Amino acid sequence: MLLTGLPAQEINRRRTFAIISHPDAGKTTLTEKLLYHGGVIHQTGEVKGKQGTKAVTSDWMELERQKGISITSSVMTFDYDSLRVNLLDTPGHKDFSEDTYRVLMAVDSACMLIDVAKGVEERTKKLYDVCRYRQIPIFTFINKLDREGKAPLELLDEVETTLQMSCYPLTWPIGIGNRFAGIYNRLTKEVMLYDQRREAVEQVEYFKVDDPSWKDKVHPEIYAQFQEELALVEGVLPPFDVDEFLKGKISPLTWGSAKQNFGVDTFLKFFCSYAPGPQARRTKDGKEIEPTDANFTGFVFKIQANMDRRHRDRVAFLRICSGKFERGMKIKHSRHDKEIRLAYSNQFVAAERETVDEAYAGDIVGVNDTGNFAIGDSVGSLSRVTFEDIPKFAPELFARMSVRDALKRKKMQEALQHLSEEGAIQLFIDPFVGAQDPIIGAIGELQFEVLMHRMQDEYNLEVKLNRLSYTVARWPRTADGKAVDQLKGNFTIYRDMIEQPVILLDQEWDLNWAKKENPDVEFATSIARAR
Ligand code: G4P
Repeated sequence: MLLTGLPAQEINRRRTFAIISHPDAGKTTLTEKLLYHGGVIHQTGEVKGKQGTKAVTSDWMELERQKGISITSSVMTFDYDSLRVNLLDTPGHKDFSEDTYRVLMAVDSACMLIDVAKGVEERTKKLYDVCRYRQIPIFTFINKLDREGKAPLELLDEVETTLQMSCYPLTWPIGIGNRFAGIYNRLTKEVMLYDQRREAVEQVEYFKVDDPSWKDKVHPEIYAQFQEELALVEGVLPPFDVDEFLKGKISPLTWGSAKQNFGVDTFLKFFCSYAPGPQARRTKDGKEIEPTDANFTGFVFKIQANMDRRHRDRVAFLRICSGKFERGMKIKHSRHDKEIRLAYSNQFVAAERETVDEAYAGDIVGVNDTGNFAIGDSVGSLSRVTFEDIPKFAPELFARMSVRDALKRKKMQEALQHLSEEGAIQLFIDPFVGAQDPIIGAIGELQFEVLMHRMQDEYNLEVKLNRLSYTVARWPRTADGKAVDQLKGNFTIYRDMIEQPVILLDQEWDLNWAKKENPDVEFATSIARAR
């Protein structure tokens, strides 16, 4: 049954997205300006908590503050026009790429942020590939126009060639760096002039492009160059094809300066005009669940423990895929095959938690978790549903952990179990040793650093990491996706946390050998549950 009336209207006005970028491209700055336009914050400078202002983002972890990088990710919600926008924060550091991947599973579109001087950087490319794989529509925002950078046409060409994607400039810059004079909106045919001295966004001057009076306000060379570039762009571009954008084939591109809050509102308007609402989601048995389906469904894409030290709580973040959420509702947990009451729930307006009584498809709710949930779990209210798995990536660093006080060994095992359910680390069971001493896998060094920090800080455990020589983990599968738990060539079969067979090897050479000995077996690098 499909919802109609008010619930359906609520669902249709949801827009859930994330910003993907290389560190330093200006994600925090852009987020802050979006929150400003969304009326969530009233003074810029609030997001990073700099200069004594209030911190409103996800600075839950001490380590995050120490390192000045965004490790955890949060959800920021605001209203703009008639829409409810959910902006999901993604961790900037490459060692947390898995976390970012999971966030991208929970959005309906993304905004790729590019530094005008740096162009497409390594992290941007990787994150872009994930969006491409999911075929989600991508907006592009070229940032830092108030600084010197690459020539616009050159940059456009670079983005298109590097990412093999067509860009569709909705706006075009007038000058750049010291000579940055404004932005032209190709759809409204309006020029907005940039004046560094202006104090408020509202003071920007707008002109129709064919109004001759703005010409005198801009250096003649810049004006001439703009006209030349525009003629080139207008000459080759067909009208904007929204369907191609929704299929993830072209990316509408805008220019601006997040720091100067210039071009951000223009982007936000485009976003609100074109970003898709909640999309249908595919279940494991190949069904498409419409967002207005009356069966409330969702999946867990993130688990965060100990967000609030006073309560020592654990929050499971659910992306609602269909229907309406109501506080206290009973849901069916698909993996455990049991019923759970979602008694306590939060939505996040920046870091401020607000209890939510109801939420709709497209929204993210944080539900209090007493250990029922793991990443990728699906829930449904009327009937059970299992969404497609969120893949895990093969770790490249491995270790075992020991605790100084032998009496605390059990506590350490529990802590490791929690952290693996959160997706902070992966655990593997050695068949000769057993579950009491698991092997810990991480994708990046920083994950181990965070692990050690959290063991001490959250669990009060003094532990030591003993590094192992493995660098490769692979999940042996048959061609049709079935788990293989016997291999020729004397390879030890370990188990991951959902009991799937996995091999851990010192180097690629060993992997090549395994492949040679077992030509019919596929060795998967990223895993979803075996069929
Ligand atoms: P991130 O979250 O993507 O890592 O980037 P963040 O917003 O922290 O921005 C990185 C640096 O780039 C910051 O400088 C920020 O001010 C600057 N920046 C962001 N957008 C723009 C822009 O449009 N123009 C210019 N000129 N700079 C921009 P910082 O020196 O690290 O910090 P701050 O002291 O300037 O705040």
